[in-house]
Amino acid sequence: MTRVARRYRFSASHRLDAPRLAPEENRRLYGKCNNPHGHGHNYELWITARGPLDARTGRVLDARTLDALVHRHVLEALDHRNLNRQVDAFRAAVPTSENVALEISRRLRENWRQAFPGEWPRLENIQIAETPRNIFEVSINETH
Ligand code: NI
Repeated sequence: MTRVARRYRFSASHRLDAPRLAPEENRRLYGKCNNPHGHGHNYELWITARGPLDARTGRVLDARTLDALVHRHVLEALDHRNLNRQVDAFRAAVPTSENVALEISRRLRENWRQAFPGEWPRLENIQIAETPRNIFEVSINETH
């Protein structure tokens, strides 16, 4: 079994504001990320897949197939968007890095089989870095 991680980048703006919390609680919790006019990030996204090597190609996956999947179902939806206003998932959920990672994992899981119809490769995890200081990770535990 071999793992392959591939890196993507996108930029997006957001505002952290939980509708169920009072304004002063939001300011205390999120600090400057609660600025009413929002702010932007350059996100770094790592997508990891695993599988056995294809005996003919010596590879785990075709990177172009993964690129097409990620561009179509993740980057086109998120890149240069206002996450709160332009991505349906964040009308209900606060666009924290945790929720952005979960939304990306949901989009990839929904469309993975169409891009990779065989048993392998499988999506293993998603990591997202909003700033250089922290990484948020979602592990996919699927039993096919
Ligand atoms: Ni932010």
